[in-house]
Amino acid sequence: MDKKKQIVMSGIRPTGFLHLGNYFGAVRNYVRLQQEYSCYFMVADLHSLTTHPDTNELKEHVYRVLSENIACGLDPEQAVLYCQSHVPETAELYLLLNMLAYVGELEKTVTFKDKVRQHPDNINAGLLTYPVLQTADIILHRAALVPVGKDQEQHLEMARNFVKRFNHRYGELFPEPQAFNFGEELLKVPSLDGTGKMSKSENQYATLYLGDSDEMIKKKIMRAKTDAGPSAPNTPKPDYIVNLFQLMQLVSAPVTLAQFESAYMDASIRYGDMKSQLAIDMIRFIAPIREKALSLQQDKDRLQRVMRQGAEKARESAARTLQLVKDSMGLNYY
Ligand code: TRP
Repeated sequence: MDKKKQIVMSGIRPTGFLHLGNYFGAVRNYVRLQQEYSCYFMVADLHSLTTHPDTNELKEHVYRVLSENIACGLDPEQAVLYCQSHVPETAELYLLLNMLAYVGELEKTVTFKDKVRQHPDNINAGLLTYPVLQTADIILHRAALVPVGKDQEQHLEMARNFVKRFNHRYGELFPEPQAFNFGEELLKVPSLDGTGKMSKSENQYATLYLGDSDEMIKKKIMRAKTDAGPSAPNTPKPDYIVNLFQLMQLVSAPVTLAQFESAYMDASIRYGDMKSQLAIDMIRFIAPIREKALSLQQDKDRLQRVMRQGAEKARESAARTLQLVKDSMGLNYY
Protein backbone atom coordinates (compact mmCIF):
# COMPACT_ATOMS: atom_id res chain seq x y z
CA MET A 1 0.00 0.00 0.00
CA ASP A 2 1.09 3.52 -0.70
CA LYS A 3 2.46 4.71 2.62
CA LYS A 4 1.03 8.16 2.07
CA LYS A 5 -2.39 6.59 2.55
CA GLN A 6 -1.47 4.91 5.83
CA ILE A 7 -2.48 7.07 8.71
CA VAL A 8 -0.16 7.84 11.59
CA MET A 9 -1.34 9.62 14.73
CA SER A 10 0.33 10.65 17.94
CA GLY A 11 -0.23 13.02 20.82
CA ILE A 12 2.17 15.10 22.84
CA ARG A 13 1.24 16.29 26.32
CA PRO A 14 1.94 19.98 26.92
CA THR A 15 3.60 19.35 30.26
CA GLY A 16 7.31 19.65 30.88
CA PHE A 17 10.04 20.71 28.53
CA LEU A 18 11.29 18.72 25.57
CA HIS A 19 14.56 16.94 26.34
CA LEU A 20 17.14 14.99 24.42
CA GLY A 21 15.37 11.73 25.24
CA ASN A 22 12.13 12.99 23.69
CA TYR A 23 14.04 14.13 20.65
CA PHE A 24 15.82 10.87 19.86
CA GLY A 25 13.00 8.68 21.21
CA ALA A 26 10.05 10.33 19.51
CA VAL A 27 10.26 13.66 17.74
CA ARG A 28 13.02 12.68 15.35
CA ASN A 29 10.88 9.75 14.25
CA TYR A 30 7.83 11.94 13.72
CA VAL A 31 9.97 14.07 11.45
CA ARG A 32 10.92 11.06 9.38
CA LEU A 33 7.39 9.70 9.26
CA GLN A 34 5.80 12.91 8.06
CA GLN A 35 7.41 12.54 4.66
CA GLU A 36 6.12 9.06 4.02
CA TYR A 37 2.79 8.77 5.79
CA SER A 38 -0.32 10.79 6.29
CA CYS A 39 0.46 12.12 9.76
CA TYR A 40 -1.59 13.75 12.49
CA PHE A 41 0.33 15.12 15.45
CA MET A 42 -1.63 16.66 18.26
CA VAL A 43 -0.93 18.67 21.38
CA ALA A 44 -2.97 16.84 24.03
CA ASP A 45 -4.14 19.84 26.04
CA LEU A 46 -7.32 18.11 27.24
CA HIS A 47 -5.37 15.14 28.52
CA SER A 48 -3.15 17.48 30.51
CA LEU A 49 -6.20 18.69 32.45
CA THR A 50 -6.49 15.28 34.08
CA THR A 51 -3.32 15.95 36.07
CA HIS A 52 -2.81 19.71 35.67
CA PRO A 53 -6.15 21.37 36.44
CA ASP A 54 -4.52 24.76 36.95
CA THR A 55 -4.60 26.38 33.51
CA ASN A 56 -2.65 29.56 34.26
CA GLU A 57 0.33 28.39 32.27
CA LEU A 58 -1.41 26.07 29.84
CA LYS A 59 -1.40 28.53 26.96
CA GLU A 60 2.33 29.15 27.18
CA HIS A 61 2.96 25.41 27.45
CA VAL A 62 0.91 24.74 24.33
CA TYR A 63 2.76 27.43 22.40
CA ARG A 64 6.07 26.14 23.64
CA VAL A 65 5.44 22.48 22.84
CA LEU A 66 4.32 23.46 19.37
CA SER A 67 7.37 25.71 18.88
CA GLU A 68 9.77 23.06 20.12
CA ASN A 69 8.34 20.39 17.87
CA ILE A 70 8.43 22.63 14.83
CA ALA A 71 11.98 23.65 15.70
CA CYS A 72 12.88 19.95 15.69
CA GLY A 73 11.58 19.60 12.16
CA LEU A 74 7.85 18.89 12.34
CA ASP A 75 6.47 20.63 9.31
CA PRO A 76 2.89 21.95 9.47
CA GLU A 77 2.77 21.77 5.67
CA GLN A 78 3.56 18.06 5.65
CA ALA A 79 1.82 16.79 8.76
CA VAL A 80 -1.43 17.92 10.30
CA LEU A 81 -0.32 19.65 13.46
CA TYR A 82 -3.14 20.60 15.79
CA CYS A 83 -4.35 21.12 19.27
CA GLN A 84 -6.80 18.61 20.77
CA SER A 85 -9.31 21.13 22.12
CA HIS A 86 -9.68 22.67 18.66
CA VAL A 87 -11.31 19.50 17.44
CA PRO A 88 -14.56 19.14 19.39
CA GLU A 89 -15.41 16.00 17.43
CA THR A 90 -12.88 14.36 19.77
CA ALA A 91 -15.23 14.92 22.69
CA GLU A 92 -18.18 13.49 20.82
CA LEU A 93 -16.38 10.31 19.90
CA TYR A 94 -15.01 10.08 23.44
CA LEU A 95 -18.57 10.11 24.79
CA LEU A 96 -19.65 7.32 22.47
CA LEU A 97 -16.58 5.26 23.28
CA ASN A 98 -17.21 5.65 27.01
CA MET A 99 -20.20 3.34 26.64
CA LEU A 100 -17.86 0.65 25.33
CA ALA A 101 -15.29 0.95 28.12
CA TYR A 102 -15.75 -0.99 31.34
CA VAL A 103 -14.97 0.68 34.64
CA GLY A 104 -13.19 -2.49 35.78
CA GLU A 105 -10.62 -2.43 32.98
CA LEU A 106 -10.08 1.31 33.34
CA GLU A 107 -9.38 0.91 37.06
CA LYS A 108 -6.76 -1.70 36.30
CA THR A 109 -4.74 0.54 33.97
CA VAL A 110 -1.20 0.98 35.24
CA THR A 111 -1.02 4.70 34.45
CA PHE A 112 -4.31 5.24 36.29
CA LYS A 113 -3.06 3.41 39.36
CA ASP A 114 0.19 5.40 39.27
CA LYS A 115 -1.65 8.69 39.09
CA VAL A 116 -4.00 7.72 41.90
CA ARG A 117 -0.91 7.15 44.00
CA GLN A 118 0.67 10.45 42.95
CA HIS A 119 -2.45 12.62 43.31
CA PRO A 120 -4.70 10.96 45.89
CA ASP A 121 -6.59 14.24 46.29
CA ASN A 122 -7.58 14.49 42.63
CA ILE A 123 -8.81 11.14 41.37
CA ASN A 124 -11.14 12.58 38.75
CA ALA A 125 -13.23 10.66 36.23
CA GLY A 126 -11.14 12.11 33.39
CA LEU A 127 -8.14 10.31 34.79
CA LEU A 128 -10.07 7.05 34.77
CA THR A 129 -11.20 7.49 31.18
CA TYR A 130 -7.85 8.85 29.95
CA PRO A 131 -7.33 5.79 27.69
CA VAL A 132 -10.79 6.32 26.18
CA LEU A 133 -9.93 9.89 25.24
CA GLN A 134 -6.65 8.70 23.79
CA THR A 135 -8.51 6.11 21.72
CA ALA A 136 -10.83 8.83 20.45
CA ASP A 137 -7.78 10.88 19.35
CA ILE A 138 -6.42 7.96 17.39
CA ILE A 139 -9.51 6.55 15.73
CA LEU A 140 -10.92 9.98 14.97
CA HIS A 141 -8.62 9.81 11.95
CA ARG A 142 -8.96 6.06 11.64
CA ALA A 143 -5.23 5.83 12.26
CA ALA A 144 -3.61 2.43 12.38
CA LEU A 145 -0.08 3.43 13.34
CA VAL A 146 0.77 5.19 16.56
CA PRO A 147 4.39 6.13 17.21
CA VAL A 148 4.71 6.07 21.00
CA GLY A 149 7.12 4.92 23.65
CA LYS A 150 6.90 1.77 25.73
CA ASP A 151 4.96 3.56 28.47
CA GLN A 152 1.98 3.87 26.12
CA GLU A 153 1.70 0.24 25.15
CA GLN A 154 -1.09 -0.57 27.57
CA HIS A 155 -3.11 2.40 26.34
CA LEU A 156 -2.79 1.09 22.81
CA GLU A 157 -3.85 -2.36 23.86
CA MET A 158 -6.94 -0.80 25.41
CA ALA A 159 -7.54 1.18 22.23
CA ARG A 160 -7.52 -2.08 20.29
CA ASN A 161 -10.04 -3.56 22.70
CA PHE A 162 -12.39 -0.59 22.35
CA VAL A 163 -12.05 -0.75 18.58
CA LYS A 164 -12.77 -4.48 18.51
CA ARG A 165 -15.89 -3.93 20.60
CA PHE A 166 -17.05 -1.12 18.35
CA ASN A 167 -16.44 -3.12 15.20
CA HIS A 168 -18.14 -6.16 16.66
CA ARG A 169 -21.21 -4.30 17.82
CA TYR A 170 -21.71 -1.76 15.07
CA GLY A 171 -19.82 -3.10 12.05
CA GLU A 172 -16.21 -3.03 10.88
CA LEU A 173 -15.20 0.59 10.77
CA PHE A 174 -11.87 1.07 12.50
CA PRO A 175 -8.46 -0.49 11.98
CA GLU A 176 -6.88 -1.77 15.19
CA PRO A 177 -4.19 0.77 16.10
CA GLN A 178 -0.69 -0.58 16.56
CA ALA A 179 2.26 0.96 18.37
CA PHE A 180 4.73 2.02 15.75
CA ASN A 181 8.00 0.43 16.66
CA PHE A 182 11.14 1.84 15.25
CA GLY A 183 13.06 -1.23 16.27
CA GLU A 184 16.69 -0.31 16.61
CA GLU A 185 15.94 3.30 15.98
CA LEU A 186 14.04 3.64 19.21
CA LEU A 187 17.10 5.01 20.92
CA LYS A 188 17.37 5.24 24.63
CA VAL A 189 19.18 8.34 25.66
CA PRO A 190 21.06 7.67 28.90
CA SER A 191 20.90 10.18 31.73
CA LEU A 192 24.00 12.03 32.86
CA ASP A 193 24.10 10.59 36.37
CA GLY A 194 24.66 7.01 35.29
CA THR A 195 21.16 5.83 36.23
CA GLY A 196 18.45 5.06 33.69
CA LYS A 197 17.51 7.26 30.79
CA MET A 198 16.83 10.95 30.43
CA SER A 199 13.37 11.85 31.61
CA LYS A 200 11.62 14.94 32.78
CA SER A 201 10.75 13.67 36.23
CA GLU A 202 14.22 12.59 37.30
CA ASN A 203 17.17 14.60 38.51
CA GLN A 204 17.17 17.88 36.57
CA TYR A 205 20.95 17.87 36.19
CA ALA A 206 20.88 14.45 34.58
CA THR A 207 18.65 15.55 31.71
CA LEU A 208 19.55 17.86 28.83
CA TYR A 209 16.63 20.00 27.69
CA LEU A 210 16.37 21.41 24.20
CA GLY A 211 15.80 24.78 25.88
CA ASP A 212 18.99 24.65 27.99
CA SER A 213 21.45 27.52 27.56
CA ASP A 214 24.97 26.78 26.31
CA GLU A 215 26.35 27.33 29.82
CA MET A 216 23.79 24.98 31.31
CA ILE A 217 24.56 22.24 28.79
CA LYS A 218 28.25 22.55 29.53
CA LYS A 219 27.68 22.57 33.27
CA LYS A 220 25.50 19.46 33.17
CA ILE A 221 27.93 17.54 31.00
CA MET A 222 30.99 18.51 33.04
CA ARG A 223 29.18 17.26 36.17
CA ALA A 224 28.39 13.87 34.63
CA LYS A 225 29.69 10.96 36.61
CA THR A 226 33.15 9.61 35.70
CA ASP A 227 36.07 8.10 37.60
CA ALA A 228 39.88 8.10 37.51
CA GLY A 229 39.84 6.30 34.15
CA PRO A 230 40.85 2.80 33.09
CA SER A 231 44.00 1.63 34.87
CA ALA A 232 44.95 -0.86 32.16
CA PRO A 233 44.32 -1.21 28.41
CA ASN A 234 41.15 -2.97 27.24
CA THR A 235 39.25 -2.71 30.51
CA PRO A 236 35.46 -3.03 30.12
CA LYS A 237 33.64 0.29 30.50
CA PRO A 238 31.50 0.94 33.56
CA ASP A 239 27.86 1.87 32.79
CA TYR A 240 28.25 5.60 33.31
CA ILE A 241 31.15 5.68 30.87
CA VAL A 242 29.18 3.66 28.31
CA ASN A 243 26.53 6.37 28.69
CA LEU A 244 28.97 9.15 27.85
CA PHE A 245 30.05 7.30 24.74
CA GLN A 246 26.44 6.80 23.75
CA LEU A 247 25.73 10.48 24.07
CA MET A 248 28.80 11.23 22.02
CA GLN A 249 27.57 8.85 19.36
CA LEU A 250 24.35 10.85 19.07
CA VAL A 251 25.89 14.26 18.51
CA SER A 252 29.59 14.01 17.71
CA ALA A 253 31.36 13.21 14.47
CA PRO A 254 32.34 9.54 13.98
CA VAL A 255 36.05 10.45 13.96
CA THR A 256 35.70 12.17 17.32
CA LEU A 257 33.98 9.15 18.79
CA ALA A 258 36.63 6.82 17.34
CA GLN A 259 39.40 8.93 18.80
CA PHE A 260 38.00 8.70 22.34
CA GLU A 261 37.21 5.00 21.90
CA SER A 262 40.82 4.26 21.11
CA ALA A 263 42.04 6.52 23.93
CA TYR A 264 39.83 4.49 26.26
CA MET A 265 41.15 1.21 24.94
CA ASP A 266 44.80 2.15 25.44
CA ALA A 267 43.92 3.70 28.82
CA SER A 268 45.17 7.17 27.88
CA ILE A 269 41.72 8.77 27.96
CA ARG A 270 41.11 11.96 29.94
CA TYR A 271 37.46 12.26 30.83
CA GLY A 272 37.73 16.01 31.24
CA ASP A 273 38.74 16.29 27.58
CA MET A 274 36.02 13.92 26.52
CA LYS A 275 33.35 15.85 28.38
CA SER A 276 34.60 19.19 27.02
CA GLN A 277 34.35 17.81 23.50
CA LEU A 278 30.92 16.32 24.18
CA ALA A 279 29.75 19.68 25.54
CA ILE A 280 30.95 21.47 22.39
CA ASP A 281 29.17 18.98 20.12
CA MET A 282 26.04 18.95 22.26
CA ILE A 283 25.84 22.74 22.17
CA ARG A 284 26.28 22.66 18.42
CA PHE A 285 23.35 20.27 18.26
CA ILE A 286 20.98 21.88 20.75
CA ALA A 287 21.62 25.61 20.27
CA PRO A 288 20.01 25.96 16.81
CA ILE A 289 16.89 24.07 17.96
CA ARG A 290 16.67 26.21 21.08
CA GLU A 291 17.06 29.45 19.14
CA LYS A 292 14.50 28.43 16.54
CA ALA A 293 11.99 27.36 19.20
CA LEU A 294 12.49 30.62 21.08
CA SER A 295 11.90 32.80 18.07
CA LEU A 296 8.84 30.77 17.06
CA GLN A 297 7.43 31.02 20.53
CA GLN A 298 7.52 34.77 20.24
CA ASP A 299 5.78 34.70 16.88
CA LYS A 300 2.25 34.13 18.15
CA ASP A 301 0.73 35.07 14.79
CA ARG A 302 2.57 32.30 13.08
CA LEU A 303 1.73 29.76 15.80
CA GLN A 304 -1.91 30.70 15.66
CA ARG A 305 -1.91 30.31 11.89
CA VAL A 306 -0.35 26.89 12.23
CA MET A 307 -2.92 25.84 14.81
CA ARG A 308 -5.84 27.18 12.82
CA GLN A 309 -4.72 25.42 9.67
CA GLY A 310 -4.11 22.17 11.58
CA ALA A 311 -7.50 22.34 13.27
CA GLU A 312 -9.21 22.81 9.95
CA LYS A 313 -7.61 19.73 8.43
CA ALA A 314 -8.08 17.64 11.54
CA ARG A 315 -11.75 18.60 11.73
CA GLU A 316 -12.33 17.57 8.13
CA SER A 317 -10.99 14.13 8.86
CA ALA A 318 -12.88 14.00 12.18
CA ALA A 319 -16.20 14.96 10.63
CA ARG A 320 -15.87 12.21 8.04
CA THR A 321 -15.20 9.63 10.72
CA LEU A 322 -18.03 10.80 12.95
CA GLN A 323 -20.49 10.57 10.11
CA LEU A 324 -19.41 6.98 9.53
CA VAL A 325 -19.69 6.28 13.25
CA LYS A 326 -23.21 7.65 13.42
CA ASP A 327 -24.24 5.74 10.33
CA SER A 328 -22.85 2.53 11.77
CA MET A 329 -24.58 3.08 15.08
CA GLY A 330 -27.87 4.13 13.55
CA LEU A 331 -27.63 7.57 15.10
CA ASN A 332 -28.90 9.09 11.87
CA TYR A 333 -32.52 10.01 12.08
CA TYR A 334 -32.77 12.32 9.12
N1 TRP B 1 -0.99 9.65 26.49
C1 TRP B 1 0.08 10.13 25.65
C2 TRP B 1 1.31 10.45 26.53
O1 TRP B 1 1.17 10.66 27.71
C3 TRP B 1 -0.30 11.37 24.88
C4 TRP B 1 -1.41 11.13 23.92
C5 TRP B 1 -2.67 11.69 23.95
C6 TRP B 1 -1.38 10.29 22.77
N2 TRP B 1 -3.40 11.25 22.89
C7 TRP B 1 -2.65 10.41 22.14
C8 TRP B 1 -0.38 9.47 22.22
C9 TRP B 1 -2.94 9.67 20.98
C10 TRP B 1 -0.70 8.75 21.06
C11 TRP B 1 -1.96 8.87 20.46
O2 TRP B 1 2.39 10.53 26.02
